[in-house]
Amino acid sequence: MAQTFESIMKYPTATDTEIKSAMDKAVEIVRKNLVDFTDMFPAHATKNNIYPKTENTDWTEGFWTGQVWIAYEMTHDEAFKKTGEAHIQSFLHRIKNKICVNHHDMGFLFSLSCVAGYKLTGNEDAKEAAILAADNLASRYREVGHFLQAWGNIDDPAEYRLIIDCLLNLPILYWTSEVTGDKSYAHKAENHIETAMKCVLRPDNSTYHTHYIDLKTGEPTTGVTRQGNRNDSAWARGQAWGIYGTALSYKYLKKAEYIGQFRKVTDYFIEHLPDDLVPYWDFDFDTGSSEPRDSSAAAIAICGMLEMSKYLEKEEAEKYTEIAKKMLKALIKHCANKDYNTCNGLLKHGVYCRKSKFNPCRDRGVDECNTWGDYFYMEALIRLLKDWEIYW
Ligand code: GLY
Repeated sequence: MAQTFESIMKYPTATDTEIKSAMDKAVEIVRKNLVDFTDMFPAHATKNNIYPKTENTDWTEGFWTGQVWIAYEMTHDEAFKKTGEAHIQSFLHRIKNKICVNHHDMGFLFSLSCVAGYKLTGNEDAKEAAILAADNLASRYREVGHFLQAWGNIDDPAEYRLIIDCLLNLPILYWTSEVTGDKSYAHKAENHIETAMKCVLRPDNSTYHTHYIDLKTGEPTTGVTRQGNRNDSAWARGQAWGIYGTALSYKYLKKAEYIGQFRKVTDYFIEHLPDDLVPYWDFDFDTGSSEPRDSSAAAIAICGMLEMSKYLEKEEAEKYTEIAKKMLKALIKHCANKDYNTCNGLLKHGVYCRKSKFNPCRDRGVDECNTWGDYFYMEALIRLLKDWEIYW
């Protein structure tokens, strides 16, 4: 273990001025990026710190629109709103025509673009697109095993599994139940998290990335990694999805067991942070390793801690908020982009996929910015600057 709660309390905390100035810088970068990324979207990760342009076809485009909406909330500048509205049309077209939506990532795509756009502007097209996305996700719910199948064709035995990332796709189902009055969406989400936490949470509070389910009996079979270092290691971003995912389901369902699960996954994450508080891409690696960091995992974990702190008793809420602000200070210091001339992302030193001897990855977006790292970094900042209504 690299850290204890005692050791972590000695690190400096991000001040209000640092948080405000980090947000100003982020908004400035987002504003400059509007020129390139209104008709097109940034790719999932930078290449040499610059985002290539892409169509709206990956699992990641919502993260950019989410940044645009946060910039709009911070400035009330119509330029951001115009881009956000253009993206709503792009997402509506995508879901109506079922373009690259044969997977579970409807929340990542549509919560941050369309649910956010609907909440902020009342745009009815955004609401329609988000509900269609929730329908698409709900269609991946499997009665045998009670979970949402993440990838591939439905009922393909090679893909009959859930993944920890999906916890962030559940809020669009909770939200759809709220706006439509149809409880079946939330019911599927609730069943999914129950199955998922039973499968992925290990006795030492680390997590599996993905877990197979038996297609005939519905029983969990094997935990396997896709993006972690080993099947039995703790992939840093997966652990972070667990932190924010349990907090978000608690927000909607208020089930006490999610607080217990949150504590386990969060404390594991905190206790395994290296000296500078920016996690390596997998917790197999610690201070002094030459492996790359994944700054996005820290940004996600910070948002999860800040969300759950809204519901915890004062002392515990203060503890997690304080740690979140220490991790944010580290991100601002070590990872925030300070030079637009050499980088058009917000948060450097992320990892999308890192090849190892034991995973099926090829190196992608290694030691680069990625759009979700940028988005969660901005979300962490706005959470600490105003009373923010979440997009999830
Ligand atoms: N949800 C995919 C990832 O975190 O890379």
